[in-house]
Amino acid sequence: MSKVIVTNIGTLATPRGSGPKSGPDQGKLEVLKDAWVLMEDGLISQVGTGPAPAADRIIDAQGNLVTPGLVDAHTHLIFGGWRQNELGMKLHGKTYLEIQNAGGGIQSTTNATRAATEEELTTKAARALDEMMSFGVTTCEAKSGYGLATEHELKALQVIKNLNDRHPMDIVATFMGAHLVPAEYKADRAEYIRLVCQEMIPKVKDQGIAKYCDVFCEADTFTAEESRQVLEAGLKYGLRPKIHADEIEAIGGSQLAGQIGAISAEHLIVCPPEGIASLAKGGVIACLLPATSFYLGAVFAPARDMVAAGVPVAMATDFNPGSCPCLNLQFVINLGCLKYKLTPEEVLTAVTLNAAAAIDRACDVGSVEPGKLGDLVIWDAPDLNYICYRMGSNLVKTVIKKGTVVVG
Ligand code: NIG
Ligand code: FE
Repeated sequence: MSKVIVTNIGTLATPRGSGPKSGPDQGKLEVLKDAWVLMEDGLISQVGTGPAPAADRIIDAQGNLVTPGLVDAHTHLIFGGWRQNELGMKLHGKTYLEIQNAGGGIQSTTNATRAATEEELTTKAARALDEMMSFGVTTCEAKSGYGLATEHELKALQVIKNLNDRHPMDIVATFMGAHLVPAEYKADRAEYIRLVCQEMIPKVKDQGIAKYCDVFCEADTFTAEESRQVLEAGLKYGLRPKIHADEIEAIGGSQLAGQIGAISAEHLIVCPPEGIASLAKGGVIACLLPATSFYLGAVFAPARDMVAAGVPVAMATDFNPGSCPCLNLQFVINLGCLKYKLTPEEVLTAVTLNAAAAIDRACDVGSVEPGKLGDLVIWDAPDLNYICYRMGSNLVKTVIKKGTVVVG
């Protein structure tokens, strides 16, 4: 049995538990001084303070902050190309939906993704995972959604499966065939929805390559009623619902999330009070993506109202080539404090335990406790306030995944 210990931890900050935290509990952390964490065969076996037990390998944290490995619960990891050409259009005042309706946006990434081989997509996404991990992420979610045809949606999910097998990152897959009605179905959107529900979802289920079904419920994309159809079809085949809701216009996505029992609702930038009430009633986790608000020049989701209403708040990057070409969850941490006015303690829970709960992994990641995976970040920082306050630098010193050093 291999024993690895992290000693000389100045501050160990972690939420505790195996489910999402809401209301005042979101801001309650365990904070230990002069601590150590012992891992055996990749799992945390003991956490303590003072004199440390013996181990085969000692990692000296040199008095720094240690937290759980971060969890990025919302990424569009698999895509061909980039969209730097849209920056000029943005600067000339074109909105996200105007660019999308002019054939840019998701459709142009779909064209590039369809043209890419499984191998090309794997190589590209592996680099993104390396970068994500360098910022402290040890578990992430990844969506399909730039194939928008059965063959290419399955290809993207296969890439995620390959990466989950080969890369140290733990990756949870989400099927998002309902990301946009592709150009060839524009004249018959009902037929595309039929394809998603009756062909793609059953095949995804057959191949066992996704756990969740997501839909972009948005003006000019999928209506709330169409979103309901897709999510109900997913449920029929055992895929739990997730939903992109209220990103640009509130067209009923957050209400639907609560009614249908989605595990999480994402974005919620313009979530109305009745949407927040529905999330609270349905036990839905709000997965907020502040770097997307920043990049779109939009307002920021009403995170404080959500905490006050007892909705567990998670935060993620939304990494994608259009609305958020950013892999840095530390930037999201900054925005969580500065723009959502969440406390550093609430923010840490949002990017660890609550993010883990948003992908149903809170039983084995998201906190530093015996029985959980040995996923830790040693920061180049003395305490939690410091990582929330500094910005623009990568403050990660060492990343440990299942008891093994993977960065640093
Ligand atoms: O979460 N909103 C839908 N999907 C992404 C954007 C996708 C894109 O622009 O390529 C998002 O913002
Ligand atoms: Fe997204």
